[in-house]
Amino acid sequence: KGLRVADGGFLNTAVIRSQITFIDGEAGSEYNRGYPIEQLALHSTHLETAYLLIYGALPTVPQFEIFSKEVMHHGVTHADAELFFRSFRYDAHPMAILTSAFAYLGSYCSEANPSLQGQNIFTKGDEASLARMDKQIYRLIGKATTLAAMAYRVRQGREFVTPPTNLSYTGSFLYQMDHMSEENYVPNPILEKALDVLFLLHADHELNASATTVLQTGSSLVDPYSAIAAGCASLYGPLHGGANEAVIRMLITIGKPENVPAFIEAVKKREKVLSGFGHRVYKTSDPRSFIVRKTADEVFNITGKDELLETAMALHEAAMKDKYFIERRLAPNVDFCGLIYRAMGFPLDFFPVLFAVPRVVGWLAHWRQASIIEQLYGNKSLIVTFFQMMLQEGGVKIWRPRQIYIGAGKREYVPIGGRV
Ligand code: CMC
Repeated sequence: KGLRVADGGFLNTAVIRSQITFIDGEAGSEYNRGYPIEQLALHSTHLETAYLLIYGALPTVPQFEIFSKEVMHHGVTHADAELFFRSFRYDAHPMAILTSAFAYLGSYCSEANPSLQGQNIFTKGDEASLARMDKQIYRLIGKATTLAAMAYRVRQGREFVTPPTNLSYTGSFLYQMDHMSEENYVPNPILEKALDVLFLLHADHELNASATTVLQTGSSLVDPYSAIAAGCASLYGPLHGGANEAVIRMLITIGKPENVPAFIEAVKKREKVLSGFGHRVYKTSDPRSFIVRKTADEVFNITGKDELLETAMALHEAAMKDKYFIERRLAPNVDFCGLIYRAMGFPLDFFPVLFAVPRVVGWLAHWRQASIIEQLYGNKSLIVTFFQMMLQEGGVKIWRPRQIYIGAGKREYVPIGGRV
């Protein structure tokens, strides 16, 4: 009662205050903790940016040493995980496997389980809560690549690989994916760097559908593994993380560049969606798309050009000068990176996994921020719980939106035999 307007799609609802990522949709720019995404892509690594996103500042050398050592040493999974992975059908979509695997992982981490440990295990803002939170962060980032590589290898009937700790985060991932024998395998450094840049680009993107899902799920104080599994499920859809797979399927359907005009007409008649175009916040350009293009050139120098590239470029050109797309302010988003994944030899249905793995970082940054708000003055006594702070602002609650009911009025139950 009293609710008159429903904000479907959250077009005009802000649900949190955040210090993590800022997107300027008109300027076409993105900042992670204040740093332009272009600078991070050029100078940083995915793991360093992960630290930045989660803890709010670029790490010092000792801080980064501890963080990367912890993450890399948490890559190993329990031996029983093999049984879990082998229970999937040979043709299971790897996102179905990964989503399930995150929830499965939680069953091994009893200290993160609110039912076993009591409700307030992460939200007190004391040293023990912070350390407990850090441990789940190390585990989830460390194991994300392992779970992804296991989802890849199980479908090929291949043995699993113990994650190496002497390579970069991305290098270790490529090693786990490709490793064939006991001989020393070293990933191609240019491809490793390219994938690392793509991981960094995908690490966070403020309150997208999956980050919102993680926060909504986490607001019940469930363990972070369950919240990340929920985020993964949200990301799987073709309007979000599944778009990189959808882009390639769309390009395959279009085939040759000469078929582009007919496809554009079908989009305008709403018979098709132009995957890889449009964004809720970006209304001029998506800064990630330019970095993707530069990275693609570097990768294609090694792998050779993808046969779908010409079709993709024809599609881009046609859309950018068409009134339909201009009026709606639709521009290419990050998802044409599927062409890079394809050139690197990843299977098509694995592309959303390559989005989900790095996005674990952003989900955790949001989860940690929602659990504690740190007043970044280096003084631990100034760490207050999210709850305390929000109580000052009028109280924080479980994320439970309201609806405007438009269904039937009160009715009397009719036994089955009396219904017509
Ligand atoms: N192809 C055709 N028409 C489109 C597209 C598109 N890709 N995107 C938006 N439109 C139209 C839409 O039909 C609407 O037209 P009208 O006003 O006449 O009804 C108008 O443009 C506004 O779009 P919207 O759907 O209201 O915008 P939104 O903010 O709700 O949706 C989006 C954003 C990303 C879901 C949408 O642009 C889309 O479906 N894009 C294709 C899928 C895609 O590439 N997703 C990846 C997004 S970036 C990575 C990520 O964050 O996951």
